[in-house]
Amino acid sequence: MTELKTRFAQALATHTGLELGAVEAAIARPPDLALGVFAFPCFPLAKTLRKAPPAIAAEIVASAQAPEGTELVAAGGYVNLRLQPGILARQAVESVQAWQTTSRVSGSGVGRTVLVDYSSPNAGKELVYHHIRSTAIGAALCRMYEAAGWKVEAVNHLGDWGTQFGKLILMWLREHGMDQEAALADLPSVTLSTLNRMYVGFKPAAAEDPAMEEEARLWFARLEAKEAFARTCWERFIEVSIAALNEVYVRFGAKFDHFLGESFYEDKLEATIERIRQAGILEESEGAQVVRVGDDIPPCLIRKRDGATLYATRDLAAAIWRHEHFGCDRALYVVDAGQSFHFRQVFEVLRRMGEPCAHGCIHVPFGLVLGKGEDGNWSKVSTRSGTGAPLPDVMDRAAARIRETMVSLAEKRALENPSREQDSFSDRELDQVSEAIGVGALVFNELKSRRAADTRFDLDSILSFEGDTGPYIQYAYARLSSILRKGGEVIAPEAARWSLLCEPETERVASVVSQFPERLDAAVEANEPSVIAQFALELAEAVHSFTHHHRVLEVDATPERMLLVETARRTLAKALTLLGLTPVERM
Ligand code: ARG
Repeated sequence: MTELKTRFAQALATHTGLELGAVEAAIARPPDLALGVFAFPCFPLAKTLRKAPPAIAAEIVASAQAPEGTELVAAGGYVNLRLQPGILARQAVESVQAWQTTSRVSGSGVGRTVLVDYSSPNAGKELVYHHIRSTAIGAALCRMYEAAGWKVEAVNHLGDWGTQFGKLILMWLREHGMDQEAALADLPSVTLSTLNRMYVGFKPAAAEDPAMEEEARLWFARLEAKEAFARTCWERFIEVSIAALNEVYVRFGAKFDHFLGESFYEDKLEATIERIRQAGILEESEGAQVVRVGDDIPPCLIRKRDGATLYATRDLAAAIWRHEHFGCDRALYVVDAGQSFHFRQVFEVLRRMGEPCAHGCIHVPFGLVLGKGEDGNWSKVSTRSGTGAPLPDVMDRAAARIRETMVSLAEKRALENPSREQDSFSDRELDQVSEAIGVGALVFNELKSRRAADTRFDLDSILSFEGDTGPYIQYAYARLSSILRKGGEVIAPEAARWSLLCEPETERVASVVSQFPERLDAAVEANEPSVIAQFALELAEAVHSFTHHHRVLEVDATPERMLLVETARRTLAKALTLLGLTPVERM
């Protein structure tokens, strides 16, 4: 498609004498495929040519050379490019064939490396529902970049350092009557719920015994000093946290090449601060060390008065270390919009230091997950409305609800159509399919709108089989799969009689399919999984009208139509997979 656009632009440029880039930029997509696949507006030419736009369009059509397989049509002040019957379908099939052989949808990123810092929760407590956002967006970005040819380094910048670990160590010790030996011996019994219980329990305990705050700080200081008892406890706590995280990540298909938590940079902080000093930008301010980053935001705090380093110090060390080790062209930080100031400060310090990594750093912010409160209003995280509930619990709930829906759908189908043999699921299949559709629905809900927008957690609409939902797209995919299972022969592209594939519904499917590579490029450039989510919705809708409108497939499953079904099915599968949904063959 992009190639065709270029050929169209070339034909126009040759004819009008305009610059190729300008022509290409002016070309738009007509609102209706029947008008053509591309449209060039002649209005801006009216002034220089001293002619009415429709006259200019007519003249261009009369004398410009149409690219092969196309015709030029004047429509008002536009020159439209229309494809000859079946060309759109041929292009769709060929485009899918092309990306299937390279297993890359686009080659725009070949030779470049991107680092994606995502999910990156604080260790030592459970994931709650809103953590789904960074995880879903980041995992989708990794897959999208990969599909565009980039080399991807997925990094989890786990929050595994700080006073909260002093608190956990202290709580653990108290649970063992302050007996270090007993506490050590009991470490294997620690689970995520132990950590969570201690994490939640610290605050009320410290309210009764205020000395605990200071003790916790001391325990963290001992951890920093690599004291054996503190270190052993901490290691076990992190091990348990990572194992629990991985259990959730597999359900999302979220993968990390590296778990490099904040603690990893501990021994690199002094060198980093020295580098800042060398750059001549480190300033003393009320006993603390800071770097000024601009008039509209406060300076970046590098070291506190008490000598402690900060979250920002570790991010500075991390950015430099990562760039040196991975040589990335881009580094994405998939972190909520609430940390925008933090990243502006960090990136500006890097820039003022003259660090080469500075220009590739991009904060990829996203909005909040809102839940419905008691009062019916949407608001930030609350345990009651479900957004503050443990993430795995919500995933279980979503899967269970889908399971119920599927069981009752099957019963309904059997009642309506007793004679027809029913596709029945084994219990295991039912579990797998419900998990894929349920978890996928949650993920889709987080990806369907532009990431800057807040999302709404409302399980009923998230799990609905209709509307802008994951299940709706899954259904379109399952329908295509079922047509292929039942249907006849799929013709080989070389033998296809393309001109048979020219009904409007067919062309719509073909048109959407052939836009996949350019949509992916746009999605990658904007770091917007929603572009792919909207693409998947569009394709699902096109598929829906293709399969329903004429009942084409039940009535006349020509080998050409089956080829298009297969092409659409592959494209939908790929789009779903990029987003992190597992396509299901039947539902
Ligand atoms: N652990 C942090 C939090 O939960 C997010 C870390 C994001 N990544 C980073 N490089 N700062 O808020």
